[in-house]
Amino acid sequence: MRDAVLKALGTVQDPELHRDLVSLGMIERVEVGEGGAAQVKVNLTTPACPLKDQIERDVRAAVLGVPGIREVTVTFGAMVRSSGQPALPGVKHVLLVGSGKGGVGKSSVAVNLAAALARDGARVGLLDADVYGPSVAHMLGQGAARVTANAERKMQPIEAHGLRFLSMANLAPAGQALVWRGPMLHSAIGQFLKDAAWGDLDYLIVDLPPGTGDVQLSLTQTVQITGAVIVTTPQDVALIDAARAVDMFRKASVPVLGVIENMSYFVAPDTGLTYDLFGRGGAQKLGGLPLLGEVPLDLDARRDADTGIPTVLAHPDSAAAQALTGAARALAGRVSVQALAQLPDQLPVV
Ligand SMILES: Nc1ncnc2c1ncn2[C@@H]1O[C@H](COP(=O)(O)OP(=O)(O)OP(=O)(O)O)[C@@H](O)[C@H]1O
Ligand SMILES: [Mg+2]
Repeated sequence: MRDAVLKALGTVQDPELHRDLVSLGMIERVEVGEGGAAQVKVNLTTPACPLKDQIERDVRAAVLGVPGIREVTVTFGAMVRSSGQPALPGVKHVLLVGSGKGGVGKSSVAVNLAAALARDGARVGLLDADVYGPSVAHMLGQGAARVTANAERKMQPIEAHGLRFLSMANLAPAGQALVWRGPMLHSAIGQFLKDAAWGDLDYLIVDLPPGTGDVQLSLTQTVQITGAVIVTTPQDVALIDAARAVDMFRKASVPVLGVIENMSYFVAPDTGLTYDLFGRGGAQKLGGLPLLGEVPLDLDARRDADTGIPTVLAHPDSAAAQALTGAARALAGRVSVQALAQLPDQLPVV
Protein backbone atom coordinates (compact mmCIF):
# COMPACT_ATOMS: atom_id res chain seq x y z
CA MET A 1 0.00 0.00 0.00
CA ARG A 2 3.00 2.25 0.57
CA ASP A 3 3.70 2.13 -3.14
CA ALA A 4 0.14 3.18 -3.91
CA VAL A 5 0.53 6.14 -1.56
CA LEU A 6 3.79 7.11 -3.20
CA LYS A 7 2.14 6.88 -6.59
CA ALA A 8 -0.69 9.12 -5.41
CA LEU A 9 1.87 11.61 -4.09
CA GLY A 10 3.41 11.57 -7.55
CA THR A 11 0.26 13.33 -8.77
CA VAL A 12 0.58 16.22 -6.31
CA GLN A 13 2.21 19.27 -7.84
CA ASP A 14 4.17 21.86 -5.96
CA PRO A 15 2.01 24.86 -6.90
CA GLU A 16 4.99 27.11 -7.45
CA LEU A 17 7.57 24.73 -8.87
CA HIS A 18 5.03 23.06 -11.16
CA ARG A 19 6.48 19.63 -10.64
CA ASP A 20 5.30 16.73 -8.55
CA LEU A 21 6.50 16.30 -4.98
CA VAL A 22 8.04 12.88 -5.61
CA SER A 23 10.22 13.86 -8.55
CA LEU A 24 11.22 17.01 -6.66
CA GLY A 25 12.57 14.81 -3.88
CA MET A 26 10.22 16.50 -1.41
CA ILE A 27 8.73 13.31 0.04
CA GLU A 28 11.07 12.46 2.88
CA ARG A 29 9.11 9.65 4.49
CA VAL A 30 5.98 7.58 3.82
CA GLU A 31 4.66 5.02 6.28
CA VAL A 32 1.40 3.12 6.32
CA GLY A 33 0.43 1.62 9.65
CA GLU A 34 -2.25 -0.75 10.87
CA GLY A 35 -5.75 0.06 9.75
CA GLY A 36 -4.67 2.30 6.89
CA ALA A 37 -3.13 5.19 8.86
CA ALA A 38 -0.63 6.93 6.62
CA GLN A 39 2.16 9.24 7.72
CA VAL A 40 3.80 11.49 5.19
CA LYS A 41 6.72 13.82 5.80
CA VAL A 42 7.15 16.55 3.19
CA ASN A 43 10.49 18.28 2.95
CA LEU A 44 9.75 21.81 1.72
CA THR A 45 12.28 23.81 -0.26
CA THR A 46 12.07 26.61 2.32
CA PRO A 47 10.75 26.88 5.89
CA ALA A 48 9.13 30.14 4.76
CA CYS A 49 7.02 28.30 2.19
CA PRO A 50 4.20 30.54 1.00
CA LEU A 51 2.04 27.62 -0.13
CA LYS A 52 2.44 25.15 2.73
CA ASP A 53 -1.30 25.04 3.49
CA GLN A 54 -2.18 24.29 -0.09
CA ILE A 55 0.45 21.56 -0.29
CA GLU A 56 -0.90 20.00 2.91
CA ARG A 57 -4.46 20.03 1.54
CA ASP A 58 -3.38 18.49 -1.76
CA VAL A 59 -1.28 15.80 -0.06
CA ARG A 60 -4.15 14.88 2.26
CA ALA A 61 -6.63 14.67 -0.59
CA ALA A 62 -4.32 12.54 -2.76
CA VAL A 63 -3.40 10.09 0.00
CA LEU A 64 -6.97 9.75 1.27
CA GLY A 65 -7.94 8.83 -2.28
CA VAL A 66 -5.88 5.62 -2.07
CA PRO A 67 -8.12 2.61 -1.38
CA GLY A 68 -7.57 1.34 2.15
CA ILE A 69 -6.17 4.58 3.55
CA ARG A 70 -8.40 5.83 6.34
CA GLU A 71 -6.39 8.69 7.78
CA VAL A 72 -3.27 10.66 7.01
CA THR A 73 -0.88 12.71 9.12
CA VAL A 74 1.23 15.22 7.22
CA THR A 75 4.36 16.67 8.81
CA PHE A 76 6.82 19.14 7.34
CA GLY A 77 10.53 19.69 7.33
CA ALA A 78 12.47 22.07 5.15
CA MET A 79 15.78 22.14 3.41
CA VAL A 80 16.75 25.12 1.30
CA ARG A 81 18.59 24.06 -1.83
CA SER A 82 21.32 26.07 -3.40
CA SER A 83 21.45 26.73 -7.11
CA GLY A 84 24.37 24.52 -8.03
CA GLN A 85 27.45 25.78 -6.23
CA PRO A 86 26.79 27.56 -2.91
CA ALA A 87 27.41 31.31 -3.13
CA LEU A 88 29.98 31.19 -0.33
CA PRO A 89 31.07 28.19 1.70
CA GLY A 90 28.01 27.32 3.80
CA VAL A 91 25.87 30.09 2.28
CA LYS A 92 23.16 28.84 -0.06
CA HIS A 93 21.73 32.09 -1.40
CA VAL A 94 22.87 35.68 -1.54
CA LEU A 95 19.93 38.04 -2.09
CA LEU A 96 20.32 41.75 -2.78
CA VAL A 97 17.85 44.41 -1.69
CA GLY A 98 18.25 47.50 -3.84
CA SER A 99 16.24 50.45 -5.04
CA GLY A 100 17.81 53.08 -7.19
CA LYS A 101 16.29 55.93 -5.24
CA GLY A 102 17.34 56.65 -1.66
CA GLY A 103 15.08 56.68 1.35
CA VAL A 104 12.38 54.40 -0.05
CA GLY A 105 12.79 51.91 2.79
CA LYS A 106 15.38 49.40 1.54
CA SER A 107 17.01 48.98 4.91
CA SER A 108 13.69 48.68 6.73
CA VAL A 109 12.53 46.12 4.20
CA ALA A 110 15.83 44.18 4.27
CA VAL A 111 15.80 44.01 8.08
CA ASN A 112 12.20 42.81 8.14
CA LEU A 113 12.64 40.29 5.32
CA ALA A 114 15.58 38.84 7.22
CA ALA A 115 13.72 38.75 10.54
CA ALA A 116 10.60 37.21 8.95
CA LEU A 117 12.60 34.45 7.23
CA ALA A 118 14.47 33.74 10.47
CA ARG A 119 11.22 33.55 12.42
CA ASP A 120 9.93 30.99 9.92
CA GLY A 121 12.96 28.85 10.76
CA ALA A 122 15.49 29.76 8.07
CA ARG A 123 19.13 30.47 8.90
CA VAL A 124 19.56 34.09 7.90
CA GLY A 125 22.41 36.56 7.66
CA LEU A 126 22.12 40.26 6.89
CA LEU A 127 24.95 42.24 5.40
CA ASP A 128 24.80 46.01 5.49
CA ALA A 129 26.54 46.98 2.26
CA ASP A 130 25.78 50.66 2.81
CA VAL A 131 29.19 51.48 4.23
CA TYR A 132 28.64 55.25 4.08
CA GLY A 133 25.18 55.25 5.61
CA PRO A 134 24.80 52.03 7.57
CA SER A 135 21.42 51.66 9.24
CA VAL A 136 20.98 47.92 9.81
CA ALA A 137 22.72 47.89 13.22
CA HIS A 138 20.51 50.68 14.51
CA MET A 139 17.34 49.04 13.17
CA LEU A 140 18.31 45.84 15.01
CA GLY A 141 19.02 47.70 18.26
CA GLN A 142 22.74 46.91 18.04
CA GLY A 143 24.27 50.28 17.27
CA ALA A 144 26.62 50.05 20.26
CA ALA A 145 27.77 46.46 19.65
CA ARG A 146 31.31 45.93 18.34
CA VAL A 147 32.43 43.29 15.87
CA THR A 148 35.00 40.86 17.26
CA ALA A 149 37.32 38.44 15.46
CA ASN A 150 37.16 34.73 16.07
CA ALA A 151 40.11 32.36 16.57
CA GLU A 152 40.65 32.17 12.78
CA ARG A 153 40.76 35.98 12.68
CA LYS A 154 37.47 36.17 10.84
CA MET A 155 34.85 38.77 11.67
CA GLN A 156 32.17 37.33 13.88
CA PRO A 157 28.70 38.49 12.78
CA ILE A 158 26.56 39.92 15.58
CA GLU A 159 23.49 37.95 16.61
CA ALA A 160 20.18 39.71 17.13
CA HIS A 161 16.50 38.85 16.70
CA GLY A 162 17.24 35.33 15.45
CA LEU A 163 19.63 36.41 12.69
CA ARG A 164 23.26 37.44 12.35
CA PHE A 165 24.49 40.59 10.72
CA LEU A 166 27.53 42.70 9.91
CA SER A 167 27.53 46.45 9.45
CA MET A 168 30.18 49.11 9.14
CA ALA A 169 28.43 50.85 12.03
CA ASN A 170 29.86 48.21 14.36
CA LEU A 171 33.40 48.65 13.06
CA ALA A 172 33.91 52.38 12.64
CA PRO A 173 33.84 54.70 15.64
CA ALA A 174 30.30 56.06 16.08
CA GLY A 175 29.51 59.26 14.24
CA GLN A 176 32.68 59.19 12.15
CA ALA A 177 32.38 59.69 8.40
CA LEU A 178 34.05 57.24 6.06
CA VAL A 179 35.94 58.65 3.11
CA TRP A 180 36.71 55.52 1.17
CA ARG A 181 37.19 55.34 -2.54
CA GLY A 182 36.32 52.67 -5.06
CA PRO A 183 39.04 50.06 -4.49
CA MET A 184 38.79 50.28 -0.70
CA LEU A 185 35.05 49.99 -0.94
CA HIS A 186 35.42 46.93 -3.10
CA SER A 187 37.71 45.30 -0.57
CA ALA A 188 35.49 46.24 2.37
CA ILE A 189 32.52 44.48 0.79
CA GLY A 190 34.72 41.55 -0.16
CA GLN A 191 35.88 41.24 3.44
CA PHE A 192 32.34 41.39 4.76
CA LEU A 193 31.50 38.52 2.48
CA LYS A 194 34.59 36.38 2.61
CA ASP A 195 36.49 37.21 5.79
CA ALA A 196 33.49 36.77 8.04
CA ALA A 197 32.38 33.69 9.93
CA TRP A 198 28.85 33.63 8.55
CA GLY A 199 28.51 29.92 9.27
CA ASP A 200 25.75 27.95 7.56
CA LEU A 201 23.10 30.20 6.07
CA ASP A 202 20.07 29.57 3.91
CA TYR A 203 19.84 33.23 2.94
CA LEU A 204 22.33 36.05 3.17
CA ILE A 205 20.39 39.26 2.58
CA VAL A 206 22.37 42.28 1.46
CA ASP A 207 21.07 45.78 2.12
CA LEU A 208 22.48 47.91 -0.70
CA PRO A 209 23.11 51.63 -0.65
CA PRO A 210 20.86 53.70 -2.94
CA GLY A 211 21.82 54.06 -6.57
CA THR A 212 23.51 52.00 -9.21
CA GLY A 213 27.15 52.56 -8.32
CA ASP A 214 30.37 50.87 -7.29
CA VAL A 215 29.13 48.81 -4.39
CA GLN A 216 26.38 47.20 -6.41
CA LEU A 217 28.77 46.35 -9.21
CA SER A 218 31.55 45.10 -7.00
CA LEU A 219 29.13 42.80 -5.19
CA THR A 220 27.92 41.21 -8.38
CA GLN A 221 31.56 40.55 -9.31
CA THR A 222 32.60 39.16 -5.93
CA VAL A 223 30.05 36.45 -5.31
CA GLN A 224 27.40 34.34 -7.02
CA ILE A 225 24.08 36.07 -6.43
CA THR A 226 20.78 34.23 -6.56
CA GLY A 227 18.74 37.33 -7.18
CA ALA A 228 17.78 40.87 -6.29
CA VAL A 229 14.67 42.46 -4.84
CA ILE A 230 13.73 45.99 -5.81
CA VAL A 231 12.15 48.27 -3.24
CA THR A 232 10.27 51.28 -4.53
CA THR A 233 7.52 53.64 -3.56
CA PRO A 234 4.64 54.01 -6.03
CA GLN A 235 5.83 57.50 -6.96
CA ASP A 236 7.10 58.14 -10.49
CA VAL A 237 10.43 59.60 -9.31
CA ALA A 238 11.13 56.42 -7.38
CA LEU A 239 9.95 54.17 -10.20
CA ILE A 240 12.26 55.81 -12.72
CA ASP A 241 15.24 55.04 -10.48
CA ALA A 242 13.92 51.57 -9.73
CA ALA A 243 13.77 50.84 -13.47
CA ARG A 244 17.41 51.90 -13.65
CA ALA A 245 18.28 49.47 -10.86
CA VAL A 246 16.44 46.69 -12.68
CA ASP A 247 18.44 47.47 -15.79
CA MET A 248 21.72 47.44 -13.84
CA PHE A 249 20.95 44.02 -12.34
CA ARG A 250 19.98 42.63 -15.73
CA LYS A 251 23.23 43.86 -17.25
CA ALA A 252 25.15 42.22 -14.40
CA SER A 253 23.19 38.98 -15.02
CA VAL A 254 21.54 39.13 -11.61
CA PRO A 255 17.94 37.88 -11.83
CA VAL A 256 15.42 40.33 -10.41
CA LEU A 257 13.12 38.16 -8.31
CA GLY A 258 10.46 40.74 -7.59
CA VAL A 259 9.41 44.16 -6.41
CA ILE A 260 8.26 45.34 -3.01
CA GLU A 261 6.17 48.48 -3.06
CA ASN A 262 6.85 50.33 0.18
CA MET A 263 4.88 53.27 1.57
CA SER A 264 2.11 51.99 -0.68
CA TYR A 265 -0.70 53.64 1.26
CA PHE A 266 -1.54 55.01 4.69
CA VAL A 267 -4.53 54.19 6.86
CA ALA A 268 -5.20 57.06 9.27
CA PRO A 269 -5.39 55.50 12.73
CA ASP A 270 -8.06 57.97 13.92
CA THR A 271 -10.47 57.86 11.00
CA GLY A 272 -9.60 54.56 9.30
CA LEU A 273 -9.49 56.40 5.97
CA THR A 274 -6.97 55.20 3.40
CA TYR A 275 -4.66 57.70 1.70
CA ASP A 276 -2.48 56.87 -1.28
CA LEU A 277 0.18 59.42 -0.42
CA PHE A 278 2.56 58.53 -3.21
CA GLY A 279 -0.01 57.14 -5.61
CA ARG A 280 -0.58 53.44 -5.67
CA GLY A 281 0.12 50.37 -7.75
CA GLY A 282 3.11 52.01 -9.43
CA ALA A 283 5.30 48.96 -8.92
CA GLN A 284 3.20 47.16 -11.50
CA LYS A 285 4.65 49.52 -14.07
CA LEU A 286 8.05 47.88 -13.59
CA GLY A 287 7.91 45.63 -16.60
CA GLY A 288 5.89 42.71 -15.31
CA LEU A 289 8.13 41.79 -12.38
CA PRO A 290 6.39 39.81 -9.64
CA LEU A 291 4.96 42.10 -6.95
CA LEU A 292 6.05 40.50 -3.68
CA GLY A 293 4.14 42.86 -1.41
CA GLU A 294 2.59 46.27 -0.81
CA VAL A 295 3.73 47.66 2.52
CA PRO A 296 1.75 50.57 3.94
CA LEU A 297 3.26 53.55 5.71
CA ASP A 298 2.95 52.64 9.33
CA LEU A 299 3.68 54.60 12.50
CA ASP A 300 4.66 51.50 14.47
CA ALA A 301 6.98 50.33 11.71
CA ARG A 302 8.84 53.65 11.90
CA ARG A 303 8.96 53.57 15.70
CA ASP A 304 10.11 49.94 15.69
CA ALA A 305 12.94 50.80 13.31
CA ASP A 306 14.07 53.52 15.72
CA THR A 307 13.67 51.28 18.78
CA GLY A 308 15.63 48.53 17.10
CA ILE A 309 13.08 45.73 16.81
CA PRO A 310 11.96 44.56 13.36
CA THR A 311 8.28 45.41 13.06
CA VAL A 312 7.46 41.87 11.86
CA LEU A 313 8.45 40.78 15.39
CA ALA A 314 7.29 43.79 17.41
CA HIS A 315 3.87 44.20 15.75
CA PRO A 316 3.34 40.97 13.83
CA ASP A 317 -0.37 41.61 13.29
CA SER A 318 -0.09 45.07 11.74
CA ALA A 319 -0.87 45.43 8.04
CA ALA A 320 2.76 46.46 7.42
CA ALA A 321 4.17 43.43 9.24
CA GLN A 322 1.77 41.11 7.43
CA ALA A 323 2.76 42.54 4.07
CA LEU A 324 6.46 42.19 4.92
CA THR A 325 6.00 38.62 6.15
CA GLY A 326 4.09 37.77 2.98
CA ALA A 327 6.82 39.38 0.88
CA ALA A 328 9.50 37.35 2.69
CA ARG A 329 7.64 34.11 1.96
CA ALA A 330 6.97 35.09 -1.63
CA LEU A 331 10.67 35.83 -2.02
CA ALA A 332 11.64 32.47 -0.50
CA GLY A 333 9.29 30.88 -3.02
CA ARG A 334 10.92 32.72 -5.90
CA VAL A 335 14.34 31.59 -4.67
CA SER A 336 13.15 27.96 -4.67
CA VAL A 337 11.96 28.38 -8.24
CA GLN A 338 15.30 29.91 -9.17
CA ALA A 339 17.21 27.03 -7.55
CA LEU A 340 15.01 24.46 -9.25
CA ALA A 341 15.94 25.79 -12.67
CA GLN A 342 19.38 24.30 -12.00
CA LEU A 343 18.19 20.93 -10.74
CA PRO A 344 18.29 17.71 -12.75
CA ASP A 345 14.93 16.53 -14.10
CA GLN A 346 14.64 13.48 -11.92
CA LEU A 347 15.75 13.36 -8.32
CA PRO A 348 16.24 10.21 -6.26
CA VAL A 349 13.05 9.04 -4.59
CA VAL A 350 12.93 7.97 -0.91
N1 LIG B 1 6.52 51.35 5.59
C1 LIG B 1 7.03 52.30 6.34
N2 LIG B 1 6.27 52.98 7.26
C2 LIG B 1 6.81 53.97 8.04
N3 LIG B 1 8.08 54.34 7.98
C3 LIG B 1 8.89 53.72 7.10
C4 LIG B 1 8.42 52.68 6.24
N4 LIG B 1 9.46 52.25 5.49
C5 LIG B 1 10.52 52.98 5.85
N5 LIG B 1 10.18 53.88 6.82
C6 LIG B 1 11.04 54.89 7.45
O1 LIG B 1 11.55 55.70 6.41
C7 LIG B 1 12.90 56.05 6.67
C8 LIG B 1 13.80 55.58 5.52
O2 LIG B 1 13.79 54.17 5.49
P1 LIG B 1 15.10 53.33 5.20
O3 LIG B 1 16.26 53.85 5.96
O4 LIG B 1 14.74 51.92 5.38
O5 LIG B 1 15.26 53.66 3.65
P2 LIG B 1 16.48 53.32 2.68
O6 LIG B 1 15.90 53.14 1.32
O7 LIG B 1 17.29 52.22 3.24
O8 LIG B 1 17.31 54.66 2.75
P3 LIG B 1 18.79 54.90 2.15
O9 LIG B 1 18.60 55.10 0.68
O10 LIG B 1 19.26 56.11 2.86
O11 LIG B 1 19.60 53.69 2.47
C9 LIG B 1 13.27 55.40 8.01
O12 LIG B 1 13.08 56.34 9.02
C10 LIG B 1 12.24 54.30 8.15
O13 LIG B 1 11.97 53.98 9.50
MG1 LIG C 1 19.36 52.12 3.66
